[in-house]
Amino acid sequence: MSEQCEHLKDRCAELERQLRESEKKSLYYQKIAQQTGDVRLRETEMLSRLVEKHKRTEEDLRKANKELSDKHIQLIQTAKLASLGELSAGVAHELNQPLMVIRSVSQIMLRKFEKLSSEQIREQLTNIERNTKRMMNIINHLRTFSRQTPSERTAVDLSRIIEDAFLMIGEQMRLRNIHVEKIFEPNLSACYGNSNQLEQVFLNMIANAKDAIIEKMTYTNDFTGRLEIITRTSPDYQNVIEILFKDNGIGISQKYRNKLFDPFFTTKEVGKGTGLGLSISYGIIKDHHGSIDVMETSSDGTTFRIMLPFKNGKIQK
Ligand SMILES: Nc1ncnc2c1ncn2[C@@H]1O[C@H](COP(=O)(O)OP(=O)(O)OP(=O)(O)O)[C@@H](O)[C@H]1O
Ligand SMILES: [Mg+2]
Repeated sequence: MSEQCEHLKDRCAELERQLRESEKKSLYYQKIAQQTGDVRLRETEMLSRLVEKHKRTEEDLRKANKELSDKHIQLIQTAKLASLGELSAGVAHELNQPLMVIRSVSQIMLRKFEKLSSEQIREQLTNIERNTKRMMNIINHLRTFSRQTPSERTAVDLSRIIEDAFLMIGEQMRLRNIHVEKIFEPNLSACYGNSNQLEQVFLNMIANAKDAIIEKMTYTNDFTGRLEIITRTSPDYQNVIEILFKDNGIGISQKYRNKLFDPFFTTKEVGKGTGLGLSISYGIIKDHHGSIDVMETSSDGTTFRIMLPFKNGKIQK
């Protein structure tokens, strides 16, 4: 699919070149017609053919652009579904936890029903209600997330989106004893974006950090995995929000640094990673007029930085 996108991008560029060319020619003929006052020249077949061709090329370009954006949406969706496959084990754990609470509370109530005061019954039922609500939240969220992403944008709260991502991946982090610290700037400005796509990016950043930490765990004793997620107003750029993902995993080898964002680049074993995560994330963030880069990496871990502009507009450097 990403090859098809590349092909379509080339086609759009070629059509744009042809349009510029025909615009130049048409201007040239018009100029000559004006200079020579030759009315016939203005109506020459050549000129009308050019206008026709120009119109056709414009139409082709419009179609190719539409096809490109459809393919792009499909590509994002495919990668999202692949990541959902991987996440499903974690989501099952996430759902299992409240389910266990509900089960044990119900068992206690059944066993001791006569002995419980109405206050105690109310307390246990509240507990059940709270846990069913938690399960509903996860299921509803999963439904919204897996839907084909509509491309509309709204003012979004990035910290909220990160919290939503943890509805699906939180349990996997807990199971591995990875400490997650979220340092969110209070009253951070909203950014104008697509929450579903941004969540897909954040999920990949968290999953990558988790994998890098797990890999380090395999050969380091007494090691506690840590992931820090920081949202803040950029200290360096105007009207920009930064999101930092700081892990203490294995780090990224120098030889891979400029391949990370290539489609299908992965160091993970077959079946574990498709290598699309960062390349899709790069596309989504670029589409949001932002940027994504490795801020630092060493054997102590890696920090990825995502920058997004406040509401509309480009990043002002
Ligand atoms: N936080 C990180 N620490 C160390 N290496 C990383 C980190 N993030 C990404 N990488 C490296 O970049 C590669 C590409 O990441 P990317 O997210 O694109 O694909 P993937 O995680 O391998 O597979 P997928 O995301 O499709 O499941 C990874 O295989 C890994 O080698
Ligand atoms: Mg990944």
